[in-house]
Amino acid sequence: MTDPSGLVAAQTQRHASLDPLLPPTTVPDRGDMLVATLARGTQVAGLLDIRTERGRRVWALTPLLGDHGGEGMEAVLRALRARLDRTPVPADSVCTLAWPSLDADCTRPLLDHGLVPVLALGVRVGATPRNPSGAASVAVRRSSSRDAGAVARLVRRAEPSQRCSSLVPKSFLDGTSPGSEWMAESGSRTGEPLAGMMRLGEAHRRTPGFASLLPEGNWGWIVRLLVDPRKRGRGVGGALVAAAHDVFARRGLERSLTWYSPLDSPAAAFWHRQGYRPLWTVWQCEPASALR
Ligand SMILES: CC(C)(COP(=O)(O)OP(=O)(O)OC[C@H]1O[C@@H](n2cnc3c(N)ncnc32)[C@H](O)[C@@H]1OP(=O)(O)O)[C@@H](O)C(=O)NCCC(=O)NCCS
Repeated sequence: MTDPSGLVAAQTQRHASLDPLLPPTTVPDRGDMLVATLARGTQVAGLLDIRTERGRRVWALTPLLGDHGGEGMEAVLRALRARLDRTPVPADSVCTLAWPSLDADCTRPLLDHGLVPVLALGVRVGATPRNPSGAASVAVRRSSSRDAGAVARLVRRAEPSQRCSSLVPKSFLDGTSPGSEWMAESGSRTGEPLAGMMRLGEAHRRTPGFASLLPEGNWGWIVRLLVDPRKRGRGVGGALVAAAHDVFARRGLERSLTWYSPLDSPAAAFWHRQGYRPLWTVWQCEPASALR
């Protein structure tokens, strides 16, 4: 197959009918085309970009299934497995692909081939009522250089229980992500008033990592959110997110997003409660050779 434009157009249409927030399908400008033939002779494809990221071999697949769902995904993953059989794969490697979260038809083949849903891009569109449990005693303010020590202590305290960070690919939790830092303070007898922190940024199609994921326009981005483990379940996280939405609204941003792990049930429950729902799910298999 030399020209996948028919598949791209049909896939764009299928995705739009699944979820109106999905952007048109785009084909990365580099990679090898994998082609698979379905039972009735129709062809589907996938663009495979094999690259090295932070010393790790990444096999990134962009499925081009046209208007086919699970049957197309099954065929393309089989073609990917056949391709892996022909190439030596290092132990430090990963297969990765992003797929619309609402495409339930593809879940079975993805799981059957050994891929795991490690990450979701959660989106919130328009105003949702302020979290009713947002604690009135929580004050949210922009952090300053004087807060650096307290923020570092909070991150250290939260780290062991931050399951999210062990599940989410490092590139998505990059400490160098852009944005402004905010902190939540609550009354405390421990002498440590810092209850939580968040980093806020803005994202659009030209932001690295978002090119094929977002429709046109600017999005408020909750880059990082962390609540002191001793102060969870008391409305601190909800107060921080409500403050983030206020910041975004003042900047004219009606839509916001965040990365979270669907495998971290408490975090997923929290984000859904804040009005976020998954747009894309990132599926991965580590090492790449474990793909079935
Ligand atoms: C996720 C996190 C930010 C939540 O902060 P929090 O201060 O405990 O959350 P809140 O008390 O404000 O809860 C807000 C809402 O989420 C729900 N929620 C929070 N934690 C939950 C849990 N473990 N299970 C189910 N629901 C939960 C609350 O019930 C509440 O809903 P309500 O309005 O009906 O009462 C916090 O647990 C945390 O820092 N976790 C580790 C880091 C992390 O996962 N960050 C997110 C990146 S993936």
